[in-house]
Amino acid sequence: MSEPTFFIITRGETKLMKPLIVANWKANKTISEATSWVEKTKAPLGSLEKIQVVVCGSFVTLPLLNNLFSGTSVKVGAQTVSHLGQGAFTGEVTAEMLQGLVEYCIVGHSERKKYFAETDQMIVKKVEFLLEKKIIPVLCTANQEQLESYLKESLAIREKAEEIIFVYEPPSAISGGGDYHPETPEAADQVCKSIKEKIGREVVTIYGGSVNPENIKSFLSMPEIHGALPGQASLEEETFVRLVSVASEAVI
Ligand code: 13P
Repeated sequence: MSEPTFFIITRGETKLMKPLIVANWKANKTISEATSWVEKTKAPLGSLEKIQVVVCGSFVTLPLLNNLFSGTSVKVGAQTVSHLGQGAFTGEVTAEMLQGLVEYCIVGHSERKKYFAETDQMIVKKVEFLLEKKIIPVLCTANQEQLESYLKESLAIREKAEEIIFVYEPPSAISGGGDYHPETPEAADQVCKSIKEKIGREVVTIYGGSVNPENIKSFLSMPEIHGALPGQASLEEETFVRLVSVASEAVI
């Protein structure tokens, strides 16, 4: 097992970043289901010291998650944000509205591209709005070309790279039906390495795509993978607690 990796993220003050497990619930969980999930996981998740857990629920569950996890080490995240500012944009949720409610926000997920026609230009605007509001973007990139496109579209991505969590998440590795091919830890590690090389500095890189309690250790044992973004494995309480416990054991 590799040494635990801690990174420094500048956010007003300097703080240490523990390896991250970011749960992406996607379009799952009603308010009552979310409440029950927190009731079952709060104690075991709150007692883990070596891992930073972030739970990304739908917008409607965020006030509840924020409230129920307050006073614990578990952080709350959103799954997307508007690429537009405040104004006549029916249905949108701005970074300003999320401020105080979440510390993290997933951006650029391939499902947003696939089903909601998000472009790289929209994604970088989202990142810029989040950075402005001091919310940590959890920026998904499907491949190296997409990262290059982000870097081309926005100076902020390179300049403020230490304030961003970069996720390598190949769409073909995402579970949930269809013909998917889980990535190997070695291949994922190589891509995380090249993300850092393209940015030219040390940044936080994590992996997403079919992560589960059985394989989390093998991903975290890679030198360039500092966490994971599980989808399916975050839905069921026992599975997620097991995943995070295994991850915690992997960080010596
Ligand atoms: P799965 O863990 O279900 O493959 O989903 C990954 C994902 O899309 C997380 O953002």
